[in-house]
Amino acid sequence: MCGIIGIVGLAPISARLVESLRRLEYRGYDSAGIAGVVDGRIERRRAEGKLRNLEALLVDNPMNATVGIGHTRWATHGAPSVRNAHPQLAGKVAVVHNGIIENFAPLKAALIAEGRHFESDTDTEVVAHLIDRELGLGLEPVAAFKAALDQLTGAYALAVLVQGEDALVMGARRGSPLVVGEGQGEMFIGTDALGLGPFTNRIIHLDDGDYVAIDHAGARVFDRDGIRVERPLRIVPAASALVEKGNYRHFMEKEIHDQPDACRHTLSAYVDPITSTVSSPGVDFAAVDRLQIVACGTASYAGMIGRYLFESLAGLPTEVEIASEFRYREPALRPGALALAISQSGETADTLAALRWCKARGITTAALVNSSESTMAREVDVVFPTHAGPEIGVASTKAFTSQVAALIALAIAAARQRGRIDAGEEARLATLLLEAPRLIAEAIVDETLIGSIAQEIAKARDVLYLGRGAMYPLALEGALKLKEISYIHAEGYAAGELKHGPIALVDEATPIIVIAPSDALFDKTSSNMSEVIARGGRVVLITDAVGAGHAPEGVNVVLAPACDPLIAPLVFAVPIQLIAYQVAVLKGADVDQPRNLAKSVTVE
Ligand code: G6P
Repeated sequence: MCGIIGIVGLAPISARLVESLRRLEYRGYDSAGIAGVVDGRIERRRAEGKLRNLEALLVDNPMNATVGIGHTRWATHGAPSVRNAHPQLAGKVAVVHNGIIENFAPLKAALIAEGRHFESDTDTEVVAHLIDRELGLGLEPVAAFKAALDQLTGAYALAVLVQGEDALVMGARRGSPLVVGEGQGEMFIGTDALGLGPFTNRIIHLDDGDYVAIDHAGARVFDRDGIRVERPLRIVPAASALVEKGNYRHFMEKEIHDQPDACRHTLSAYVDPITSTVSSPGVDFAAVDRLQIVACGTASYAGMIGRYLFESLAGLPTEVEIASEFRYREPALRPGALALAISQSGETADTLAALRWCKARGITTAALVNSSESTMAREVDVVFPTHAGPEIGVASTKAFTSQVAALIALAIAAARQRGRIDAGEEARLATLLLEAPRLIAEAIVDETLIGSIAQEIAKARDVLYLGRGAMYPLALEGALKLKEISYIHAEGYAAGELKHGPIALVDEATPIIVIAPSDALFDKTSSNMSEVIARGGRVVLITDAVGAGHAPEGVNVVLAPACDPLIAPLVFAVPIQLIAYQVAVLKGADVDQPRNLAKSVTVE
């Protein structure tokens, strides 16, 4: 988490540091700060809370530097406050950091014993002290930086400024992302290409363990052993235009509306509409004897939906596990398995660690990722892309449906490769899948119907979501969306589990949101709704017209377009997103930047 930026510029850079931080604010927004070298001395400006507070500070107290670093924070060590905001400063050195320095406590103790004084509760401050100490021993800046890096354990991306150096920024990455950007006589480092989007699309991706010094002449990159290396420069697609809200109130609202296109673009990587065939570039599922999906949060729910299809369509034994558990429990996986990570960012620390665990044991790895330049995309054997475009709202919407769309396509491809379906059935399923973007768009059109239901839900303290089959992971996702952005406690359950505990929670104050298209399981779920109503519970049923006609008396219906069960998880995802969104808006919550969360979780 946290976003970092460093610029060696030809003109004042304060406004550009802030502009970049705005693009990185999705990574954390507990505080923000910048530092620059002005007349040979380091100046810094820091503010608690959102970036706008830093901007206000800069209006009153501008900073006139042409070299500088910036940071937007998701707090790990030390409460959100100005004191703990980055850049952290020690002597001649200012540092911004994304990650966790795991051995900061013994390092700090040793530095204090040497007589050094600490101002903050952060782990980052030790990095500034270590570099400053090495400078004091006579090392030049890059050597001092390397000497400090060698003492650190943990995960980090760093950007460093040194007093007296008015054309130098240093950076390093280990376990957290960092890229270098090349401009016209200007150089940049930053968390990702998106953050550098307004300045350049000429990007160098550093390898894990690399460190770098940028100045007006360019970038000097070194590997973890200090050997000077060349890393390839790539021209990344100009993503900058894609990260505007347009006329929408929030990025989340925009991203919900982006879904038909996101789904269409994603499917174009897998489905050929002319031949109605589906492919899985890079993997032959006939040669896979087990699929192990690892992911976190919303991506793990996409994985659960994928499991239903990989097993039912392709007969491929499939496990889905939350990456943070998988990585520490010694799973019994053997070569022959395919490990598939699902991740919007491609940077989530636990998912990445789970992938590396598999790779180290000789298991083929694949990643379904939205960010094609991410660490996961670069480390796996096979990349399955989603083409959702940049997702800025912390609560995932279009990345989720794009993941589900890709997983449905891969399951169809797997079914064909494994001889479970013939070409005719493949063509039929491909045609159904290609209808998804249109039906997602139809589901969005009905947005207004949700208004009165959202008002009821906004008053609730607890909400239950129920679903069966592939609607069960959607129930989990619906509950996650609601709690993430509206702070209402919500739980998702398999509808069949209702009687095994959750029914005790049913009363007139607890809305039950049931996701049930008119499929083979509808009647079973309908019985569960009757059980709830008989106990005075209030049911909101998300279903299609046929389901609405068969719903028990007394339920409030949210209508979704009728669709084939294959694509129902895509179409029915929309109303659950809209409910969460509208409830959050009614509650006046910070929809795009909910409290305590960050979009890309690069710490354990
Ligand atoms: C965070 C985000 C979630 C996301 C999860 C996994 O918790 O708030 O929206 O689902 O990380 O992120 P990834 O980038 O790996 O999909």
